[in-house]
Amino acid sequence: MLLALVTLLSFANAALASTEVTVKLSDKILEEEGDVNGRVRVYFSIIKPDRDSSSKGPMYENADEQDTNQVFGFDARFSTTSTTSELPEEAYGYPLSRFADLNALPAQSYSVQVELARFKEVRRQGLPPTFLPTSCVSKDGSNGAYEKPDGTIYSKPVVWKPGTPLALTLSEVIPDSTPSSRGCAGLGDGVDSDWIKTVRITSSALSEFYQNSTDATLEACVLLPFGFDDHSDAKYPLVLANGHYNPTFNPGGEFIEEKPECNDPDDYACVSAWYGYYLFSNWTAPSSTPMENARVLLVTINHPTSFFDDSYAVDSQAMGPYGTAIMNELIPEVERRFRGLGEGWARGLMGGSTGGWESAAHMILYPDMFSYSLAACPDSVTFSRHTSVNMYEQDNAYYYNSDFKRTPTPGYRDGYSGQSIDYVFPAGDIISTFREMNLRELALGDNGLSCGQCDAWEAVWSPVDTSTGYAKRAYDKETGVIDNDVVEYWKKYDLARVLVDRWDELKDHVAGKLHFAAGGSDSFYLNNGVYDFQRLLEESVGLDHGVTFTYGAHDGLGMQHCFRGYEYDQEGKVQPNSITRLTYVQDVVPKMVESWVANAPEGADMSWRY
Ligand SMILES: *[C@@H]1O[C@H](CO)[C@@H](O)[C@H](O)[C@H]1NC(C)=O
Ligand SMILES: *[C@@H]1O[C@H](CO)[C@@H](O)[C@H](O)[C@H]1NC(C)=O
Repeated sequence: MLLALVTLLSFANAALASTEVTVKLSDKILEEEGDVNGRVRVYFSIIKPDRDSSSKGPMYENADEQDTNQVFGFDARFSTTSTTSELPEEAYGYPLSRFADLNALPAQSYSVQVELARFKEVRRQGLPPTFLPTSCVSKDGSNGAYEKPDGTIYSKPVVWKPGTPLALTLSEVIPDSTPSSRGCAGLGDGVDSDWIKTVRITSSALSEFYQNSTDATLEACVLLPFGFDDHSDAKYPLVLANGHYNPTFNPGGEFIEEKPECNDPDDYACVSAWYGYYLFSNWTAPSSTPMENARVLLVTINHPTSFFDDSYAVDSQAMGPYGTAIMNELIPEVERRFRGLGEGWARGLMGGSTGGWESAAHMILYPDMFSYSLAACPDSVTFSRHTSVNMYEQDNAYYYNSDFKRTPTPGYRDGYSGQSIDYVFPAGDIISTFREMNLRELALGDNGLSCGQCDAWEAVWSPVDTSTGYAKRAYDKETGVIDNDVVEYWKKYDLARVLVDRWDELKDHVAGKLHFAAGGSDSFYLNNGVYDFQRLLEESVGLDHGVTFTYGAHDGLGMQHCFRGYEYDQEGKVQPNSITRLTYVQDVVPKMVESWVANAPEGADMSWRY
């Protein structure tokens, strides 16, 4: 009753505001692109003297940080009969939830920019046709929630003061990059190098699921082993380095064939270039290298969807049969083209974060395909701790259970440490609560279509509502209230539970071969899921399970995202994440090989050990 009254009042107030922001599609774009639809996002940032005026505009600013920009979003369609949309009163905003709140602030100047994230109609088997983001990947391979996919329409920034009308024109388009993609080898689309090869297939499983309504291409970037041509009879194991979409081959650090000319230990781009060169020189050395006797096909894969830059490489209702397509179509094709051994004992996995989850999921859900896995800083490997949230016990994902208090669950702390040359101090400073992360996504796109991280998790793990075509929410995006029926469905993807349930069948498969690492203070609280994985395993099967768990600290202090295991420099100091993220290959692949050799079936083909 009270709620209804408040709603009425605020509706009356903001009806006034609703006339003030108009978004028009320019005639030129209408002519070039025809009818367009998608998510309109209006971004605001405060104009400050110290802010870089050459920056690309508020739509590119501070998406992840404490000091975020302001955004309001709504769905719209533009056509010849409807070239202008008004920001509706009920448009979702973040951090301020309603435009009326921003409009009521003191009259300082804002830089404002609007974008239209494009949608297209997608048909999926058994689901109604649904408008979904055309892409969640930007030209340079970044996640489309933060960077901008090709075809995004946007305005030039304008200056605005609250209380005055705001008219924005969608006049610019991010061009189609397909012809200018850097390609796996970084030499241009479809241009391979001697070492790096591109494999593209049209997946029949995905074509069928999507009824040809969206691109069903899967791409693998393959690094050939040293001696591939000279050892023309050799057959090779395969290492799948899981991770986010990347137009170029990047298995954890780059592969750079030329010695870098820079020499600045404080410049991370320079440091990474050197490690890219170390990978090249280690990979291509005949001897005295960690890769000696460990000649393998090293593979990264690209499988972006309309929900995220990555499908999570399993079968899911919303995204479709990506696991099946990768296991049955893409990997066999890579092995067919490049003399892969094609057997589970000689395939391994490694990856961090999204790639960490995938590496654990592949090991547990596809046990015949793989026999070794390093899952670093993985996304939630059990949902008793989905980041900071206990999905099984809490009533609300945004607050801990309590009779009288309302303590928010945290979402992001301290910051990402993968590119800061040294450690990030683990003070536990909260950058965003879990609620704030979700509300920002709600502004970027409702119905789970923000291309953001929390929406992506729901698209992978939740069932789809067959009347709307959208993934059901495990928790209400606005209020946080958890839906236990949806969470029940998530158990299919609760990797700890699946492992424990199938323990008799899987125990030999994982003992000594499944490895977890997470920073003691992972930025996204992903260490919690790993702790709970270990706890559930030990409570269920005892201490003698053979799965390893490494929690990262330096000088007794926690490490952030994305710790992948300990490595030390010459003085014995623990290397920060920014360095170890560049050395996955040299550190992990030799351990994998050792395990394969120890566990190979009798008479196994060892022609790759040179
Ligand atoms: C998709 O395309 C393939 C190849 O053109 C065709 O054989 C198939 O029937 C199509 N499927 C649907 C559902 O349209
Ligand atoms: C391998 O890489 C290390 C750096 O990690 C480098 O110091 C060493 O020289 C490289 N060895 C070869 C044979 O390329």
